[in-house]
Amino acid sequence: MKAILFALTTAALALQAYCAPAAAAIGSRAAEACGFPTIPLYRVVSDSISDRIFTTDASEVEHALESGVYVRQAVLAYVYSNTTGPNVPGAVPFFRLGSAANTDHYITTSWDEVDSAVASNGYEYQGIVGYVFADTSAATGCPGTVAFHRSFNPQLEDHFFTTNVSEAAILAGEGYLDQGIAAYVFPPA
Ligand SMILES: *[C@@H]1O[C@H](CO)[C@@H](O)[C@H](O)[C@H]1NC(C)=O
Ligand SMILES: *[C@@H]1O[C@H](CO)[C@@H](O)[C@H](O)[C@H]1NC(C)=O
Repeated sequence: MKAILFALTTAALALQAYCAPAAAAIGSRAAEACGFPTIPLYRVVSDSISDRIFTTDASEVEHALESGVYVRQAVLAYVYSNTTGPNVPGAVPFFRLGSAANTDHYITTSWDEVDSAVASNGYEYQGIVGYVFADTSAATGCPGTVAFHRSFNPQLEDHFFTTNVSEAAILAGEGYLDQGIAAYVFPPA
C-alpha cells in the first residue's frame, strides 16, 4: 500500500512539475550567515505513507502538498544553497536519497552512505539539497550553527531530522532510534 501510494504520488509530482507555473517562495526570509546568504530547508510530511521529503526547492514543496498525500510543511533549518555552498569555507554537500519501496527520503553528508544506500538498500540518489557543516570544527569559523539531529524508525522506514532536542526526545519514545548528529545547520526562524 505504502509503495503504491508512493508510485502514484511520484507520477502526480512528475505531471505537476511539467505543467505547474513558477512557484512562489514559501516561508522564505532574507538570511545571511558568515557573509553568505542562506535558504530554508523544508520538511514536507505525509502521515498516510509515513514519509518526509527534505528539500530547498519551494516548487517541490508546493507540488507535494498539491498531491494531497503530503499534508504539511515546516522550515527545518537554514542552509547554504547548492550554488552558494561551494564558496563557503568548510561547508559540504547535503546529499538526498529516496526509496520508492520504503517510501522514505533522507539526507546525509556522507558520500559513502549514499554509495551503500544505492548499492544495497534500494535507494536512489536525488541530488544536493544544500550545503552544511559536517562537524563542529568545520563550523567554528561560522558562529550560530546548531546540531541537526537524525533519527530513524525501522518499522515505518522513516527518517526524521530536527534541530529541536525536545522534539527528538519525544520521537525517541515513539520508536525512533537516535542516529546522532547529521550536520550543523542554522536554526529555523
Ligand atoms: C540544486 O538545488 C536545487 C533547488 O533545491 C535543485 O532543484 C537542484 O536539483 C539541485 N542541483 C543538484 C545538482 O543537486
Ligand atoms: C520543540 O519541540 C517541542 C516538542 O514538540 C515543542 O513544544 C517546542 O515548541 C519546540 N520548540 C521550538 C523552538 O520549535
